[in-house]
Amino acid sequence: MEEIKLQEFLNNIYRNRIGKKEIKAVERVLKKGRLSYYTSQEVKKFEQNFAEYLGCKYAIAVTSGTAALHMSLNALEIGHKDEVIIPAFTHIAVPLSILYQGGMITFADINPYDYSINVEEIENKITESTKAIIVVHSFGQPAEITRIKKLAKKHGIKVIEDCSHSHGAEISGKKVGSIGDVGCFSFQESKIMTTGGEGGMIVTNDQEIAKKCRERIYLGEDLLTYGYRMDSIRAAIGNAQLEKLDQIIKKRREIADVYARNLPGFLDKPKVNKTVKCVFNTYPCQVVNKKVRDRLISGLQKKKIPVEAYIDKPLNKFKVIQKRTDFVTNSSEKFKNSEIACNRVVLLPVFPSLNRNQIEILIKRIKEEFSSLPREYFHFSQCTLP
Ligand SMILES: Cc1ncc(COP(=O)(O)O)c(C=O)c1O
Repeated sequence: MEEIKLQEFLNNIYRNRIGKKEIKAVERVLKKGRLSYYTSQEVKKFEQNFAEYLGCKYAIAVTSGTAALHMSLNALEIGHKDEVIIPAFTHIAVPLSILYQGGMITFADINPYDYSINVEEIENKITESTKAIIVVHSFGQPAEITRIKKLAKKHGIKVIEDCSHSHGAEISGKKVGSIGDVGCFSFQESKIMTTGGEGGMIVTNDQEIAKKCRERIYLGEDLLTYGYRMDSIRAAIGNAQLEKLDQIIKKRREIADVYARNLPGFLDKPKVNKTVKCVFNTYPCQVVNKKVRDRLISGLQKKKIPVEAYIDKPLNKFKVIQKRTDFVTNSSEKFKNSEIACNRVVLLPVFPSLNRNQIEILIKRIKEEFSSLPREYFHFSQCTLP
């Protein structure tokens, strides 16, 4: 019976995110008929609420996380030959946003313990042409932003925080996104909070950066501008989700806690830094090698258990990047920790509506699938544990 209920739940997992509040908010906006930034207060209200939640002075709502990254680099005037350091293990939107500006990508390896950019790697890669670093707070875990900010300040480099996985995550009581020069958020459907499928936000305490972002998302005659405006329907959903965000995070942290205490030893759990507040947009684990990982995931997915891998190779090996090596300072470098993560990571679901019983069934299914794997898989090892 529980198994059937779990299956029903998993089939409906995305529908469960939108509740009565969001539906009412959309209805209210539609009935008013004022649907854009120009005619309605809804987007302005969402921007104010989000800025207040983060403890930032300015917030600018946009159409996606990619648009937020692009506008941030644009406002920082990143252009031809300007180098931007980014992790080799993250979403493709990060290097793409640099290409949109004609800037140079410099990849850096990640830490094996938090999947975020490694500080020593950044330090080794800073040159006279480095203008910015994009720090991604991966999988809901804050990166080492305080050390990175200090390093960036020493070299006069700007820091962009990509918080697409980490809405509400904190370091010493400060929310990520409010620590660097600019913070970028995605509200795409799979993120911790959504604006109804797609959406994004830029936050900053810098008036000049805020002004430049604002000017560039509304089409005008004098500047090269981009149509990245958010509409009122998305903002209304965003406002309703923001009211629930702390509750959503609380639930996610509880689920992560159940995983931490109950997962079997063959899954190497994330080494969570106890001094920071993680929000777990997913729960990243590792197994011994790629062959085991791929079989485990495909077996579980066949049973409709929503576990997944992340990217299958470091970003410098993506075709879109390989075709543009003139825009990459180190396209053929090897990134050991990123390779390991690409080969071994298994992302476990952290949906706020999962109850303890359902998580226990998920863990049981993972154990069963693992024990059914052929033993010879365990002699095959592409890379050894760090
Ligand atoms: C780390 C990161 N940055 C940027 C993005 C791009 O966000 P969007 O899909 O809203 O453009 C994503 C999307 O998943 C992401 O994971």
